[in-house]
Amino acid sequence: MDDLAIARAVHVLAIVHWIGGVLMVTLVLLPGLSRAVKAAERMSLFGNIEGRFGNQARISTALAGLSGLYMVYGMDVWDRFADPSYWWMHAMVLVWAIFTFMLFVAEPFFLHRWFDARAARDPEGTFRRVQRMHVVLLTLSAITVAGAVLGAHGAFL
Ligand code: HEM
Repeated sequence: MDDLAIARAVHVLAIVHWIGGVLMVTLVLLPGLSRAVKAAERMSLFGNIEGRFGNQARISTALAGLSGLYMVYGMDVWDRFADPSYWWMHAMVLVWAIFTFMLFVAEPFFLHRWFDARAARDPEGTFRRVQRMHVVLLTLSAITVAGAVLGAHGAFL
């Protein structure tokens, strides 16, 4: 087994953990909180539960980026970034960059404070906004996963 095959396995495992977690939060946790918990308490409960996944997702996001970069370097496919038929390579880097910014910059430095302040004024609207944001990111991620599997197996050439 060569190192690129191992990098691919690490890449896919990291994606399964990270995007699977986003799916669970978006389709199970958030709708569940919306139904079962009073608006004023939702954001703090969500922060407590999701915080644990956030810590794990920092690791899987970093592993996905490192293994992806290792494959680009090892396969020497940098020229794909200049070819529109490899749109799924751009999509992977875009999704990775958005989550990396959210997890490593926005969440620790300002997002929580901003959401807490907004939730104190308008808990219902803030929770809806968090839900919408998760649906958008999950949709983008799902399109990227499908595009990457199809693209890696020659579907867009
Ligand atoms: C810096 C970020 C990333 C880089 C540099 C990267 C790079 C790569 C490379 C080089 C491949 C192999 C392509 C081939 O075999 O032709 C790949 C495969 C793949 N990547 Fe990424 N990737 C990144 C992030 C992501 C993200 C965020 C996702 C999902 C949302 C993702 C999902 C996948 C999937 C599903 C495959 C296909 C595996 C297979 O079917 O063999 N990647 N990636």
